[in-house]
Amino acid sequence: MIYHYDEVESTSDLIKSINIPEKKVVIWADTQTKGRGRKKRDWSSPQGGLWFTLLWIPDNFSREFLPYIVKISALSVVDLLLEYGISPKVKPPNDIYVNGKKIAGILIDTEIKAENVEKIYIGIGLNVNNQIKVFEKSVQDIAISMTSVIGKEYKLDELLYKVLDFIFDYFEKEIDRSFIDKRWHNILLNK
Ligand code: BTN
Repeated sequence: MIYHYDEVESTSDLIKSINIPEKKVVIWADTQTKGRGRKKRDWSSPQGGLWFTLLWIPDNFSREFLPYIVKISALSVVDLLLEYGISPKVKPPNDIYVNGKKIAGILIDTEIKAENVEKIYIGIGLNVNNQIKVFEKSVQDIAISMTSVIGKEYKLDELLYKVLDFIFDYFEKEIDRSFIDKRWHNILLNK
């Protein structure tokens, strides 16, 4: 189920604070007032970008597969951009770069009990139709959006559905780790 809001503080915080009895939930917002990045950094989330968090409660997911959550999330954003004619690279752990600038960031969180991963949170921020000039000066030089690469506007819901499809396709192919590892290696920045 996808819940869409005009504005929230952070989709990643909101999804943890509400109890929705479903195994796959997405909270998607047009803007975030307190978007969070990795390492306690702020994540600027103006109108026009795709800001969402997926909560997945898998039936049976071993913790040994944890590193693949990071890879799968990043590769899914990479596949989405490739479909729109944009060639990204991944800066580990999971920053997505185009032309040397960051186009997307991913915030992963998990809840683990014994050997099992009980909850997986994947928060994705993708600069889509948002203009880079609305960011703070310090971010303007290091950020890029899909529209600033291609000069077109994109439908956010279409992008959301596609990236979710990619994510779950990869998870279903979880057995094929060598395929994921190979793709990951090929897409790394500065390799
Ligand atoms: C990073 O590069 O540091 C990760 C950025 C993650 C941003 C996304 S936007 C949707 C979700 N909600 C948040 O508050 N953060 C993530």
